[in-house]
Amino acid sequence: MPTNVEIMNLLREVSDPELGRNIVELNMVRDLKVSKDGVIEFTLALTIPGCPMKAEMERDARMLLMAQPGVKDVRITFGEMTEEERRKLFANASPELPKLNQFNKVKKVIAVMSGKGGVGKSSVAAMLATSLVADGRKVGILDADITGPSIPKLFGLPPGGLRGSEQGILPAVTAQGIKTISTNLLVPNEDAAVIWRGPMIAGTIKQFWTDILWGDLDVLLVDLPPGTSDAALTVMQSLPVNGVVLVSTPQELAGMVVRKAVSMLKQLNIPIIAVIENMSYYPCPDTGHPHYIFGPSHVEQLAKAVGTDLYVRLPIDPKITEFGDAGKIEQIGSVELKPVLERLNA
Ligand SMILES: Nc1ncnc2c1ncn2[C@@H]1O[C@H](COP(=O)(O)OP(=O)(O)OP(=O)(O)O)[C@@H](O)[C@H]1O
Ligand SMILES: [Mg+2]
Repeated sequence: MPTNVEIMNLLREVSDPELGRNIVELNMVRDLKVSKDGVIEFTLALTIPGCPMKAEMERDARMLLMAQPGVKDVRITFGEMTEEERRKLFANASPELPKLNQFNKVKKVIAVMSGKGGVGKSSVAAMLATSLVADGRKVGILDADITGPSIPKLFGLPPGGLRGSEQGILPAVTAQGIKTISTNLLVPNEDAAVIWRGPMIAGTIKQFWTDILWGDLDVLLVDLPPGTSDAALTVMQSLPVNGVVLVSTPQELAGMVVRKAVSMLKQLNIPIIAVIENMSYYPCPDTGHPHYIFGPSHVEQLAKAVGTDLYVRLPIDPKITEFGDAGKIEQIGSVELKPVLERLNA
């Protein structure tokens, strides 16, 4: 049977999805009682009585605690914060950002996000970085997909072998000079699975920001895992993200996940600066005529829905897979990302 302190620590893994902070830190867990016969009781003080996220938080907390040895039942009653508590909470809603290593100077942090997985986020991040470098920019990529990292593979960077210096950990550097950090550079081999819990993932992301010697960068691109996971939230809250590039495919309408992402970014005051519809069409090899094989493009509506005027359609291009798989994404040559680059350079 876990103790009160252990229970509180466990509950730090449950977040208010709307606020993106854990329910213990938010002081939502009240009147915790643990009985000898294995029943845990507490009140969850909601910020607003009809909080749409209450079922989700209740389910997460229950699942987590029921999995502990000796726990027979978890009883959660809902309460409500007082006006005063609520005011206090929102007054310090933006926690202080962890400090960037004093030797670093990063002008712009841009996160690459998507609603779904496998839409080409990492490939797009890599191609954006490559194009920025070709424009003479100093660029870094922080691979925030801690459990599913793919940046090193795209650039042919081997696992392990990171070096340290007095000032910090040195990032790996690609053939064209893009500085990168990823869990895949830390593990002994590419297939070593990283099975970590939320707090470890968050800690690693913060360290990728604070402990890496990025030096002078014009742009640091952050490759996020898909959706609005904890990791995405950690990035948004722990790094001074200037803007988000949203990657989607034609199959993805401005659905639930995108709405969630938009709501999260709005609360954090981070703008979506561009939408990239990847695998938008297949250009006929002979005539260049576009075939919309995944259905008609929705990128214009999507851009409007997320509040940006800038959108780009990228074709299906077998070279992306071929060069990406071979670790040679930098050699792919020009892709049609110019308007996005202009905005990143602005
Ligand atoms: N425009 C494209 N044309 C053809 N293949 C593409 C294109 N963009 C991406 N791909 C391929 O699609 C696959 C998924 O791409 P990628 O890993 O970049 O997606 P992701 O959104 O980062 O995925 P995850 O959600 O797993 O992080 C890869 O095999 C990649 O080579
Ligand atoms: Mg990826």
